Amino acid sequence: MGQALDGSALDALFREARTYSKWLPKPVTDQTVRDLYDLLKWGPTSANAGPARFAFLRSKEAKERLRPALAPSNIEKTMTAPVTAIVAYDTKFHEQLPKLFPHNPGMVKLFESNPELANATAKRNSSLQGAYLIIAARGLGLDCGPMSGFDHAKVDQEFFAAGKPCFGCDQEFFPEGHVKSNFLCNLGYGDPSGLHPRLPRLPFNEACSLL
Ligand SMILES: Cc1cc2nc3c(=O)[nH]c(=O)nc-3n(C[C@H](O)[C@H](O)[C@H](O)COP(=O)(O)O)c2cc1C
Repeated sequence: MGQALDGSALDALFREARTYSKWLPKPVTDQTVRDLYDLLKWGPTSANAGPARFAFLRSKEAKERLRPALAPSNIEKTMTAPVTAIVAYDTKFHEQLPKLFPHNPGMVKLFESNPELANATAKRNSSLQGAYLIIAARGLGLDCGPMSGFDHAKVDQEFFAAGKPCFGCDQEFFPEGHVKSNFLCNLGYGDPSGLHPRLPRLPFNEACSLL
């Protein structure tokens, strides 16, 4: 606490980490996926609600279910990735607040009575949790390939509709289809031969103000 990570850790998390689309033939174990969740879950969310839900697709069967929803340019990289995470959010996340935020029972009612607020909170915080996933994965030595090029309706119907099995989760079902996809993230050990040169980022004075 209060101490910066060393330069090599910052390189691994940010400066040298890249978005990968080719993968080395090295599997990602189920234990690594569990370790990944057990790390990312500590990232902060509004009212400690943790609205993100993650489906980790590793079997050929699960990947084939995803294929029809993918933008053509995202098919090959996804089908060859050891794992594809569907980062999703539960619009009924507030049902978990008695467990996750027990000292303030009023929060459940607040979200129940305001679906717009609940939806915005779920989307914002699941995006954050998706970012925690990326940084946690890099911390565990994995590489990532996040993607928004896919058909959300198809993914939600295939993986999150009522009565459909949810691969990669301990829960057998995501009930009632109130889980919605946010973005996808391929996970594995990246093959640097597929990388293009690093694109620039906005410098401090174009992206930030000091007030
Ligand atoms: C939310 C999100 C969605 C993205 N969607 C796609 C996508 O659909 N297809 C794709 O090839 N790359 C996608 N990317 C990858 C970005 O283009 C890439 O992360 C960015 O250019 C930075 O690359 P770098 O990490 O190698 O510097 C996405 C990235 C993010 C974070």
